[in-house]
Amino acid sequence: MYLPQLLARAGKGEKLNVLTCYDASFARLLAENGVDVLLVGDSLGMTVQGHASTLPVTLEQMIYHTDAVVRGAAGKAFVVADLPFGSYQLSSGQAFESAARLMAAGANMVKLEGGGIMVESVRFLSQRGIPVCGHLGLLPQSVNLTGYRAQARETEAASQLLQDASDLENAGASMLVLESIPSVLAEEVTQRLNIPTIGIGAGPHCNGQVLVLQDLLGLTLKPPRFAKDFMSGAGDLAGAIRNYVAAVRSGEFPGLEHSF
Ligand code: KIV
Repeated sequence: MYLPQLLARAGKGEKLNVLTCYDASFARLLAENGVDVLLVGDSLGMTVQGHASTLPVTLEQMIYHTDAVVRGAAGKAFVVADLPFGSYQLSSGQAFESAARLMAAGANMVKLEGGGIMVESVRFLSQRGIPVCGHLGLLPQSVNLTGYRAQARETEAASQLLQDASDLENAGASMLVLESIPSVLAEEVTQRLNIPTIGIGAGPHCNGQVLVLQDLLGLTLKPPRFAKDFMSGAGDLAGAIRNYVAAVRSGEFPGLEHSF
């Protein structure tokens, strides 16, 4: 699937459903059960590798997992790959070299964290044919500065996030993940932008939702407040995935209890 098809769905008002995915078996299962977008997230540092953060994940590892997911999805889902910590922050040139390797592994889009100085890198990549997804709010690669807690709760930080969101869109970002921010702020960003917003802990008003697969499957020991275990009562893996897809499409998930 290419970007125009995905954006056309969002343009018709369909909520996009996104799940993280790290291997070919799950990629096939997710793609065959209606998941629109597979995010090869650097959360694999925690879910697959058992680290305490995403920081140890390398570009080589992201390429390996992206390659596997792309083969499993077999063109039935849109694949976004995270640029890992240290692979893009130095310069636009470094971002391009890293992103090009993920695209060569078959990704349809890359995702990078932050606004501000990252805006120029987003422009550089998108002008060179690489679709980019931005990521604002809680930035797991900056956990040493912020900890894992909701962001942009104060007026000044909320205004900065609105500015970053519009700067990223103007620089050519095609999609924007909003993580752990107040749902009223996510609603305002969603209304102001023309590109789809994808929420995680950002309330019910985004154009789509993303969850970490292990949270959805009930495998996380201490799941975040915004997660929901879709496995309980589903019978099997495919049922859990279908229930997630249906709940996102209908707007039933996330509810206010999953929001800040
Ligand atoms: O790596 C990841 O799983 C992510 C999601 C939390 C959006 O970036």
